[in-house]
Amino acid sequence: RGFGQRGDGDTSEWLTAKEELLKKLEDKLKYVERWQSDVEALEARLNATVDELRGQKAEVEKLNKENEGLKTRLHAAEKEIDGLKRDSGAHRVAFSASLSNFGEIYKGPCTDKTLIFKRIFSNVGDGYDESTGVFTAPVDGLYYFSFNTYGYNTHVMGAMLFKNGIRQISTYDFPSVDGSDSSSNSVVLQLAAGDKLHMELWDDGRVFDNLNGHTTFSGFLVFPLSK
Ligand SMILES: *[C@@H]1O[C@H](CO)[C@@H](O)[C@H](O)[C@H]1NC(C)=O
Repeated sequence: RGFGQRGDGDTSEWLTAKEELLKKLEDKLKYVERWQSDVEALEARLNATVDELRGQKAEVEKLNKENEGLKTRLHAAEKEIDGLKRDSGAHRVAFSASLSNFGEIYKGPCTDKTLIFKRIFSNVGDGYDESTGVFTAPVDGLYYFSFNTYGYNTHVMGAMLFKNGIRQISTYDFPSVDGSDSSSNSVVLQLAAGDKLHMELWDDGRVFDNLNGHTTFSGFLVFPLSK
């Protein structure tokens, strides 16, 4: 039907219906607008969170880098401490002994010419073996050795220091008119860990000792050397 054919009642009813529809649409629009502003607020918060996470990630990366730096420095410091330990007292090596720990000893001439010093004054680091008379270097380093031999005039008096079976230094006194002889010597040797040192009489040699400690053998590590 055309507009003109409607009654007044019909028109106002139609308008009322449209007004109601408009009102509903307005409400819906408001609702949608509220939603949109909520979504925008959420997006802003999300953006802020993303920014914060980026910042934290950068911070963690920075901390990781710093940590790596500290690790490197710690490693270097540990190495340095190891070196210092090696150089200062981690290896304490010193011994000193005399031939006789009981009564009088005339040693030699004999076939087993090794002098076994039995009276131990000190033996730090267990380098010296009092059962064999052999000193074994525990670490690479520079070592100082000294010895004294004493004896009477009937025989050659003296002894030799051997390193790994090779003669190093010695004391020597030919049989002579005076009653007794005493002679000493010392040396600084560069040793590798495991090198072995001992004292031997000369062929036909003889030394004497009692608890006065005339015939002695001493040594100590001056300082270690790295390989
Ligand atoms: C959130 O970040 C995006 C991308 O950077 C940007 O396009 C948007 O406008 C931001 N929104 C708000 C609410 O800041």
